[in-house]
Order: sequence, then structure tokens, then C-alpha cells
Amino acid sequence: MIIEPRMRGFICLTAHPKGAEQSVKNQIEYVKSKGKIDGAKKVLVIGASTGFGLASRITSAFGSDAATIGVFFEKPPMEGKTASPGWYNSAAFEAEAHKAGLYAKSINGDAFSNEVKDQTIELIKKDLGQVDLIIYSLASPVRTNPVTGITHRSVLKPIGSTFSNKTVDFHTGKVSEISIEPSKEDDIENTVAVMGGEDWAMWMEAMKKAGVLAPGAVTVAYSYIGPSLTEPVYRKGTIGRAKDHLEATAFSITDSLKDIDGKAYVSVNKALVTQASSAIPVIPLYISLLYKVMKEEGVHEGTIEQIQRLYQQRLYAGGEVPTDEKGRIRIDDWEMRDDIQQKVAELWEKATTENLSEIGDLEGYRKDFYNLFGFDIKGVDYNADANEMVAVESIK
Ligand code: NAI
Ligand code: NA
Repeated sequence: MIIEPRMRGFICLTAHPKGAEQSVKNQIEYVKSKGKIDGAKKVLVIGASTGFGLASRITSAFGSDAATIGVFFEKPPMEGKTASPGWYNSAAFEAEAHKAGLYAKSINGDAFSNEVKDQTIELIKKDLGQVDLIIYSLASPVRTNPVTGITHRSVLKPIGSTFSNKTVDFHTGKVSEISIEPSKEDDIENTVAVMGGEDWAMWMEAMKKAGVLAPGAVTVAYSYIGPSLTEPVYRKGTIGRAKDHLEATAFSITDSLKDIDGKAYVSVNKALVTQASSAIPVIPLYISLLYKVMKEEGVHEGTIEQIQRLYQQRLYAGGEVPTDEKGRIRIDDWEMRDDIQQKVAELWEKATTENLSEIGDLEGYRKDFYNLFGFDIKGVDYNADANEMVAVESIK
């Protein structure tokens, strides 16, 4: 069977197993090329199938020979339908980990539920005893709180007033003005409930209670700040409130882990093309200009480069983990460099439909977007039979 990308709006309905496999292999090769990292050996990654979470799982396994358990929410392949990209990524990751003699098992289900937390804890007890690193990398538009039973939906809106600015439809390259209406009060609450730190704290509490956290265990969640250009819709918008909450939760988790000498960090990462970021107005235009400038300056990174650097030069560099004045690890340092932001701001003023393919990196944006679904990956023969059914024993 030949699998092609099928787009609907900002999402792609198909995914390519061979492309996903190649993309995982490329990430593994990158991590290996950077040498060993003296990191954690038993690692749980919550949100392990795509983006920063997948990169974290790969970096732990192939940088530090770690045993990994991955939790995610993905669709397996079905008759006449491809799996979701994260499912293929995870199948490929497990195959490669097993080939390398590394323990790797996965749990496919709703990480916000008590059931998946219990299932994960049981698996840790049975196979690993305890874990020493927990990466929390969920991105979801919806969460059902297991205590209240209430289902919350997150929104990406400015707070207080309408925000108008430029955006781009990255498929067509058309630059236009958009206006986003401000949030209503429960939009903030709901977004904080989905993307804030409550569920992270619930995971850590359940694991501590079950005795599956090793002494000195570290947990890391991912955040974003970005420039003033995107502030109204990101850091000062509803999602920014959720990130404020996530960042504050790091301190309360650290307090709760005092007796095992544990520590919670937030790492602020760089803006990258993911399914989630493509759906936020204004951000795709910012990313396409940012990519152009960072590539020209030789400081562009993707998820794997970011996480490999997080591990090797921040978490496991030896000695104190460097943080900013708010206790956050910063690997958005190159994105936020004054000269980079200055150039992006200048290009932003000029950007039009006519000049964007020249002054911005629309091509790089599109390529990254297709890559998320296993398309347009170097080294894959897309005319060959895609052999869609990948059976994976250990994905429960
Ligand atoms: P992603 O969409 O690539 O990954 C999300 C992961 O969460 C996937 O593994 C998915 O299966 C899993 N997931 C979603 N809902 C789930 C559920 N109910 N149960 C179990 N698993 C579930 O997202 P990405 O971009 O890697 O984001 C991860 C974190 O990094 C987020 O906190 C995001 O805000 C943050 N971040 C993202 C940036 C970007 O530009 N993409 C920049 C900086 C931070
Ligand atoms: Na992720």
C-alpha cells in the first residue's frame, strides 16, 4: 500500500510508518553522535510518542542506556486507516531499543486518568522497582479531572482584549491579518486545568505514595515563553496562565519530594513546529521567520537537538543545574538572543504573502510539519509498499 499525506485544515489524517521509523532512527543517530551522557538509568516519559517527549525518551535510551517506560495516547493502525504518527514512532522506538538490548515498554491510554497512573506504577514495580527521572511532556486540548469527573477544554486566546496581528496559512503561504477575541473567565480556568501543573503533581504524588520514586529522583516538565510579538496569544494569554501554573507546580513538587531528596524542574524550550503549535494563530509566521534567522546564524535546533542539549549541558553536566532567576532551565537561550529577536522583529514588519517564501523559512516549516507525520523524510522510498501493520507486543 502507498500512503500519502491527506490534509484537513491544520491536521494530517494519515501517517507513514516507514517515515516515522526513519525519523526515529535519525534521532537515535544524532544522540549517539553526541556521545554518552551520565544520566538517569530508569526513566518514565509521560507524553513519550511525539515532539519533546519522544526526543526525551530517545535521549535517555541512546544517550544513557536507560530503561524507559513511555506513556502516550495514540491510535493503532486499523483496517483501511493508518495509525497516528506517535504510534508508529513508538513502535519504531521500541524495536530499536530492543535491538540495542534496552528495556522499553509503553502504555497507550489517557495519562490524566487514575487507571493509567495505576497501570504505570504497577509496571514500574514489576519491571524496574523505581524510576529516577520522570519527564512530563503532555500536550492535549482536553482533560477529564479524575477527582471531579469534569472534562476541561483548553483554549488559545488573549486575555482582556482582542488581539490583532499578522498570521500565515503555511500551506498556501498567504499572510493575512487576524483578530482573536479575548477569553471569558472560565476559559482561563479550563486551560489551566488542562495544561497547568495539577496532573503533573498528581502523577508525582501517586508515584511517591507507591514508593516507585528512587532517592534523588528528578522530574522535568516543558514550558515556553517566546517574544513580545506573540505574548498576547501565548505567554500573556490563556495558555500562558497554564504555563505559569505549571512553573509554580515545580516548586510545590520539589517541596513534596524533600524527604527523598527529589527535585522538579521546568525547562523552557524553543518554539518548534508541532501539531499543537501549528494550530495557534500568529505562531506559524513567527516560527517561519525564526527558523530563517536561526538557520542563517547556525543555531537552529529541532526537538532532538534541544533535548540532547538539555540533558548533556544542563541536567547532567555535573554540578548544579543552571537555572534563571525563576528557577527555570533555559534551552530557549538561542531563540531569545537579542540579535535573533531583533532580526525576527524587523522581518515581521516586512512580511507579506509576496516576500515570505524569501524572507521566511516557509519551506522549512512545511517540511517539519510533514515530518511530524512521517512524510518528506530523507532516505525513505515513498513509492515502496508501506507495510502498514506493525505489531508491537509491548505497547499495552
Ligand atoms: P506533542 O503534541 O508532540 O506531544 C504530546 C504528547 O502527549 C504525545 O506523546 C501524546 O500522545 C501525549 N498525550 C496527549 N494527550 C494525552 C493523554 N490524554 N494521555 C496520554 N498521553 C497524551 O507536543 P510537544 O510540542 O512535544 O509538547 C510537549 C510539551 O512541550 C508541552 O507542555 C508544550 O507546551 C511544551 N513546549 C512545546 C513547544 C513547541 O513549540 N512545540 C515549545 C516549548 C514547550
Ligand atoms: Na511530547
